[in-house]
Amino acid sequence: MKFKGSDNYVATADLMLAVNAAITLKRPLLVKGEPGTGKTMLAEEVAQALNMPLLQWHIKSTTKAQQGLYEYDAVSRLRDSQLSSVDGGEKVKDINNYIVKGVLWQAFTAEQPVALLIDEIDKADIEFPNDLLRELDRMEFYCYETRELIKAKNRPLVFITSNNEKELPDAFLRRCFFHYIKFPDAPVMQQIVDVHFPGLKQELLAAAMKTFFDIRNLPGLKKKPSTSELLDWLKLLMAEDIPLAALQSADQKVSVPPLVGALLKNEQDVTLFEKLVFMNQRNR
Ligand SMILES: Nc1ncnc2c1ncn2[C@@H]1O[C@H](COP(=O)(O)OP(=O)(O)O)[C@@H](O)[C@H]1O
Ligand SMILES: [Mg+2]
Repeated sequence: MKFKGSDNYVATADLMLAVNAAITLKRPLLVKGEPGTGKTMLAEEVAQALNMPLLQWHIKSTTKAQQGLYEYDAVSRLRDSQLSSVDGGEKVKDINNYIVKGVLWQAFTAEQPVALLIDEIDKADIEFPNDLLRELDRMEFYCYETRELIKAKNRPLVFITSNNEKELPDAFLRRCFFHYIKFPDAPVMQQIVDVHFPGLKQELLAAAMKTFFDIRNLPGLKKKPSTSELLDWLKLLMAEDIPLAALQSADQKVSVPPLVGALLKNEQDVTLFEKLVFMNQRNR
């Protein structure tokens, strides 16, 4: 079982190495990186390349670790017991009917090996990763309501992503293989764009990429545009049939590029950028 990249996803050599290291070590792969650097997509692509179903768990600030294992739906059971005349109360008697299985339960009991994505783990509260330590380590947990031990038939391939909003506990980090997806440099970005828009005119792409990286390199920017924003912008440029001249600032005049709202997402950044453009014009 080895990941060698895919047609839809540009994986750098060190990223492929990290995926394969996590597979070899049988440890979760913890992927960090700026938003839009392809962390979520990595799990989808690896699962597809290795022919494994992917179970996804998208974490929110209110998500609790227990929800990934199972939840006992006592409210439904109570309601059913009050209406029990309906089916003779058979359903109510069996507690298994009220256990809602979480993604870990599903992953552990799946017939074939699956990939499991725990997406944006840093969204949850600080206890969340610690609460999952044992389950991810031992690949088993106990369901008290039904008195059964849920043990992984096959060890799932676990991906955990983080946008770095919170630090993760040391004990948790120790159990993962870690990879930081660096923001793509121009050649890698070019490959990513090629994957999405194979027919793009090279001059247009070169001019758009220059603008994009100029914006990213602006000092003091609150929110740097990411890969997905560049892709959105390119899509718009093509849809609106924006001429190359509108992007080229090389010689005669510098101007704010069209549809810059795809790249800059707050007014301070737009103002900052306009100022810079204005200063460049005066210096000519
Ligand atoms: N290496 C890559 N190869 C191809 N497309 C990519 C790559 N990285 C990012 N993308 C594009 O950027 C989008 C955002 O990626 P995503 O996985 O959602 O980022 P993250 O989870 O890191 O925030 C993807 O849908 C894809 O279109
Ligand atoms: Mg994501």
